[in-house]
Amino acid sequence: MKFFIDTANLDQIKEAQDLGVLDGVTTNPSLMAKEGITGKDNILQHYLDICEIVDGDVSAEVVATDFDGIVREGEELAKLHKQIIVKVPMIKEGVKAIKYFSDKGIKTNCTLVFSAGQALLAAKAGATYVSPFLGRLDDISTDGLDLIADIRLIYDNYGFETEILAASIRHTMHVINCAKLGADVMTGPLSSIDGLLKHPLTDSGLAKFLEDAKSFNV
Ligand code: E4P
Repeated sequence: MKFFIDTANLDQIKEAQDLGVLDGVTTNPSLMAKEGITGKDNILQHYLDICEIVDGDVSAEVVATDFDGIVREGEELAKLHKQIIVKVPMIKEGVKAIKYFSDKGIKTNCTLVFSAGQALLAAKAGATYVSPFLGRLDDISTDGLDLIADIRLIYDNYGFETEILAASIRHTMHVINCAKLGADVMTGPLSSIDGLLKHPLTDSGLAKFLEDAKSFNV
């Protein structure tokens, strides 16, 4: 399972990268705005800064909603750096653009996916990644994990190569359950990765080992 961090915060990206388990980064316009990144040049530079920190794929989202605009923005983003994945919303014009990008060998991440039908369409169009938002489904009393399981089943039935990128992850149990269901990738906040480390028996066990090791006089 690949681990992506879902932030545009450079310090948090560095911290996850330093742990040695980071495979990529996802951003969206809200995450960029949260870091105060505005203006086209600053936004493009910020994507480059992220690519400097990590080795893997970095999703950069288009904001156009018409085919020509999505293609124009996406091609510019793709040219920026080889690690950039063009993130395209699950709308009709977006599906057309994903097919266009796929034919040109440009990698895409189909975002804002909330149903198995949308995921099927994204795979048919040749998306590199599909991003089902499980946290936002949980927020409206719908089990987001059911969607991950449905997409896994459908993609396996037909051998679709589109990778399931479980998005809108909120906590460690989302990560663990997505891993059990066979999601290819998860993207979540730093806390969802750091949280995997924690167990009170590890802490108490280590404290005892260190206490007993004092007698070694090393
Ligand atoms: C990532 O690709 C998504 O944009 C992100 O995971 C959405 O997460 P949120 O529902 O916590 O905003």
